[in-house]
Amino acid sequence: MKVLVTGFTGKVGYEVAQKLMDKNIPLVCAVRNPEKAKAEFGNAYEFVKLDFSNPDTFDEALGQVDRIFLMYPPGDNLQFASFLEKARRHGIQHISYLSLKDVQFMPFIHHYKMEKLIKKSAIPYTFVRAGYFMQNLNDFMCKEIKERRRIFVPAGKGKTSFVDTRDLAEVLAEALMHPAKHRNTSYIITGREALNFYEVAEIMTDILNIDIEYANPSVKEFKEFMKKMNVDDNFINVVIGIHFPTKLGLAKGIKHDYQKVTSKEPTDIRVYIDDFKSSWI
Ligand SMILES: NC(=O)c1ccc[n+]([C@@H]2O[C@H](COP(=O)([O-])OP(=O)(O)OC[C@H]3O[C@@H](n4cnc5c(N)ncnc54)[C@H](OP(=O)(O)O)[C@@H]3O)[C@@H](O)[C@H]2O)c1
Repeated sequence: MKVLVTGFTGKVGYEVAQKLMDKNIPLVCAVRNPEKAKAEFGNAYEFVKLDFSNPDTFDEALGQVDRIFLMYPPGDNLQFASFLEKARRHGIQHISYLSLKDVQFMPFIHHYKMEKLIKKSAIPYTFVRAGYFMQNLNDFMCKEIKERRRIFVPAGKGKTSFVDTRDLAEVLAEALMHPAKHRNTSYIITGREALNFYEVAEIMTDILNIDIEYANPSVKEFKEFMKKMNVDDNFINVVIGIHFPTKLGLAKGIKHDYQKVTSKEPTDIRVYIDDFKSSWI
């Protein structure tokens, strides 16, 4: 058994690799630039080049593995139909796919199409339909929190089902280690409570001992400020899109699949903020 971990340098892939390594499962980390990854992460990992927009990289990445943690990255011209066809020909036995909560109601988004493509490939799968990542706070929101002490996303007063990417990784890795048990199953993985960003700002203020506020910008204010900061238009639209269901009050659903799969409680956002404290100070 050997697992190909895609998106290794990202928020979820890295954690999937840690969970597999903790259990001594052989893995190879897929990255677009293996030299850069080696310099950054050292010799503890094996790397292979994989670029979903370049089918010439697919055979080598799929050559020595029989299971895949699969994520859908940002970017254009991604060749997933071809990747999955090659995966089938290479005899891949299981795919753990990082999908999105409520995907079944959103036929226009790529995760909906990806789930269909994976099913069509006839490769056994587990879909992990994820809630809103806690780690967004130390990723694309980090700069504003650190520099201007504010959470700056256009999410209104809506609540969302924050989940720790380490919990997602646990379920994704569990499915790769015990594929028969999780074969052709979808799990909805959220945290234990839905929160709005005013509540998150209050918890951060408490734990970090620094005043953090939620700015609650309108979409227009968000767009104007981000443009002034020279943020790429595509990225601005992605961030607006991610927070739109929250603003409409549609993102607050909590599910208990994490408890079912792991027999544990999901990570509390207070634990996450404490663990990642140094990101914002
Ligand atoms: N953020 C959320 O709240 C949320 C919630 C539910 C689901 N999701 C889903 O989670 C996924 C993102 O996962 P993440 O946050 O862990 O990723 P991430 O932190 O945004 O990192 C993106 C990863 O994709 C890799 N990548 C970029 N372009 C690539 C390409 N052409 N070929 C191969 N790899 C490429 C990057 O690797 P290099 O640049 O190093 O090559 C990097 O490892 C998305 O599909 C998103 O819809 C997100």
